[in-house]
Amino acid sequence: MTDRDAALDPASMRKQYRAEGLAEADLAATPVEQFARWFKEAAIEGHLFEPNAMIVSTADAEGRPSSRTVLLKHFDEQGFVFYTNYDSRKAGELAENPYVSLLFPWHAMARQVIVTGVARRTGRDETAAYFRSRPHGSQLGAWASAQSSVIADRTDLDATYTELAARYQEGEQVPVPPNWGGFRVAPGAVEFWQGRENRLHDRLRYVAEADGSWRVERLSP
Ligand SMILES: Cc1cc2nc3c(=O)[nH]c(=O)nc-3n(C[C@H](O)[C@H](O)[C@H](O)COP(=O)(O)O)c2cc1C
Repeated sequence: MTDRDAALDPASMRKQYRAEGLAEADLAATPVEQFARWFKEAAIEGHLFEPNAMIVSTADAEGRPSSRTVLLKHFDEQGFVFYTNYDSRKAGELAENPYVSLLFPWHAMARQVIVTGVARRTGRDETAAYFRSRPHGSQLGAWASAQSSVIADRTDLDATYTELAARYQEGEQVPVPPNWGGFRVAPGAVEFWQGRENRLHDRLRYVAEADGSWRVERLSP
């Protein structure tokens, strides 16, 4: 095998992860607070590109899964919020089965966070407030795309966008599309994974208790 072949062979791609770990004693009181710490470290110290990019996995009524990357737009003790098209595949699956998994793949820091929980639509006021904060072009794009539907080619999409751009000039208020909005994922469990040497990683998982408190458990790597 040449060096180049070896460099492209997934089986020989191996990184030694960092020594500093994650200890129970260092954890914040709630998973959202702990997420806020790691998110800050990813964004500020890690300089990660789009640390708010997360893999959203849903499953249909028969339990068949599907995944895609989506941007986290807000988080607080109520949950993790993203915005999308309510006619999309993911939204259709969430209507049948609200259980969802969010995965933040912070590879450059040898970290991942996995949130599992239940997704509910955000209220229209919250959706409208976020929609108005988006760039004009993204607002028009939300109208132009029937997300997840099969289309013949780009022509109609570009033509629709051009028509919308003529109707709504830059600076003019674009109405919120009725089929566009947010989902808030209320966490039931949140795992913080820190890569360590020799594959002896730390995995600490917060699990919601019935009384609203959190239990922390350590998982074997
Ligand atoms: C970095 C990145 C960020 C994305 N952010 C969003 C987003 O915030 N909302 C969204 O609906 N799609 C987003 N997408 C597109 C989705 O991955 C996906 O193609 C789209 O939502 C349709 O998914 P579905 O057909 O499974 O419903 C993003 C893709 C990438 C690669």
